[in-house]
Amino acid sequence: MVDSVTVKAPGKINLILRVGAPGPDGYHDLVTCFHAVDISETITVAHADEFSLSVAGSVSLDEIPLGGDNLAIRAAKALAALSGYQGGAKITIDKQVPVGGGMGGGSADAAGALVALNELWETGHDIAELLAVAAPLGADVPFALLGGSAVGRGRGDQLTSVPSGVFNWVLVPSAVHLSTPQVYATLDVLRGDEAVVAPREPSEEFFAAMASGDATALAPLLVNDLAPASLELHPDLARTLSQGKGLGALAGMVSGSGPTLVFLAADAQGAEHLALGLEAGGHRALRVTSPVQGAHLVESR
Ligand code: C5P
Repeated sequence: MVDSVTVKAPGKINLILRVGAPGPDGYHDLVTCFHAVDISETITVAHADEFSLSVAGSVSLDEIPLGGDNLAIRAAKALAALSGYQGGAKITIDKQVPVGGGMGGGSADAAGALVALNELWETGHDIAELLAVAAPLGADVPFALLGGSAVGRGRGDQLTSVPSGVFNWVLVPSAVHLSTPQVYATLDVLRGDEAVVAPREPSEEFFAAMASGDATALAPLLVNDLAPASLELHPDLARTLSQGKGLGALAGMVSGSGPTLVFLAADAQGAEHLALGLEAGGHRALRVTSPVQGAHLVESR
């Protein structure tokens, strides 16, 4: 019998985030392009009678719920319910994805817990079944299972994979966190009575730039409809965005609901120059490449 299983699950950025009107359930109709970057959560699970969670890592951990509200615990319970599994699990997470930053760290934890427990409990669910368990947990959880690059429609959970070349990015996390529901609600307020059109599909140019890994062609096509709401709640972000552009970033944008900022560099050297410049300006800057695979097994003992 396997005693413990370790899985890595990636954080994401949204290369396109088009937001339509909210539906009756409060969720907004989206067309987004998720993109998995090489900054990951490491989730380890072991047998236990009850469910428990401990979290460590290089990021600020204050706002992470450790009880039943935690997405990893909810994912574990959902998988147990599906499988008729009677026991619990000890879940340990090493967090590297910035917390409350719009990079889907909590969703990566949930996806990682699903893959790890499916292995530990030998429940044998295939990816389609895991995706079905993932969707009700949160709009970004299915993508953390899939990884790579994918267009998400509906709530963001109806996924179609997109071929992607390699890109170089610099991420700037913020000490201030933003709540995703608050950012969406602020967007609704900013839009006021204006008629909200259905979210536009990505263009052919976008898919071509992605497939060929052409950063220069991709840069002007990056778009985030949530950015005005994130900037409204956190006006300092505008200055950091212009600093990054001044340091040669091909594009700078808010990641998802923010406040993490994402800068696209021409190549690895450009990313290094950009990261050093942003650090000299007093920011934390993380160089990442993309795309990377979704939640996957790294150790089973
Ligand atoms: O599903 P998830 O927990 O990631 O969503 C957090 C919140 O973000 C939702 O409760 C909702 O307020 C908002 N949201 C939305 N439309 C989406 C995704 C998220 O309004 N498509």
